[in-house]
Amino acid sequence: MPIDPIGAEVHGIDLSAQNPPPPEVIEALEREMAQRGFLVFKNEKQLTEQDFLRASSWWGGRDLHSTHGVHPATPGGNRHIFRLSNDPRHGIPGVGPQWHNDGSFNTDTFSHAGYHIIRPAEKGGGTCFAHQGAAFDALPLQRQAFWRRLSSVNSASGVVHPAVHKHPISGRLSLWLHLGMTGAVIEKRQDEEGFRLLDADELKQLCHEYNDILDAGLSNGYAIAFEYQERDCIFIDNLAVAHRATPEAHRHADEQGLRILHRSTVRGMKDLAPDFGLPLRLRIRGPSPFGEGVWQAGGVGFRWDDDIAMQN
Ligand SMILES: [Fe+2]
Repeated sequence: MPIDPIGAEVHGIDLSAQNPPPPEVIEALEREMAQRGFLVFKNEKQLTEQDFLRASSWWGGRDLHSTHGVHPATPGGNRHIFRLSNDPRHGIPGVGPQWHNDGSFNTDTFSHAGYHIIRPAEKGGGTCFAHQGAAFDALPLQRQAFWRRLSSVNSASGVVHPAVHKHPISGRLSLWLHLGMTGAVIEKRQDEEGFRLLDADELKQLCHEYNDILDAGLSNGYAIAFEYQERDCIFIDNLAVAHRATPEAHRHADEQGLRILHRSTVRGMKDLAPDFGLPLRLRIRGPSPFGEGVWQAGGVGFRWDDDIAMQN
């Protein structure tokens, strides 16, 4: 059942089943995730951690790929669960306030990610999702052409990704940028050989443009501020939708009610490789190979707005 304007609800599939649904069902659900961005599985009973992780590996690379820290309150200390909360005693607070895709520091990123609500906060606090294919379509033609010449460099790993890629399932041209972990953006020169780096003003403008075009989806029908209901388990196509926490999700439990969310991450299928012969990875901690411009290693990368929270 489609959710307006993106995402879809799935009823009647038991995520606690030992065996996955038949391949044609998995394939149909993956196609739906690619097109609508994410699926919300409505569960009649609360899933165990094992159920959630087992169902996570039904998708994409069919295996978990876990790179995060493990909070002490994580059940069984399970390293595949990234436990998030608005109370630091219950989980890691403040993660992901700006638009991003999970695993951007890997060459293959994550193909899918799971979000299992353990406890929704009484006063709400959800996740925003924006369809990156629709966001590309919403850009003016001349900006589309500019974005297609760009590649981002991850500030933590130096991994290089195209700023526009063709989605492997939907075939849609899709934007891609991490607003909390980008150390540089490289432009392929338009009418000559070679590359240049965006300078601070240009990169600031680019990040704002990305933020604005995804936010615009909230009123223009390609993004949603999703509120979790009890027992909801979401799986997203991490190449089709960007996400960020809503501001309410990070409001402290004393004010908002306690919120606990478990995240899983699924191994990518193939490298999200840059075009123009650029390598999969550059030495972001070394000197810039492209001359002047922003080239910034570590932390949250380039700060494109002084007044916002950034945390990975
Ligand atoms: Fe995230």
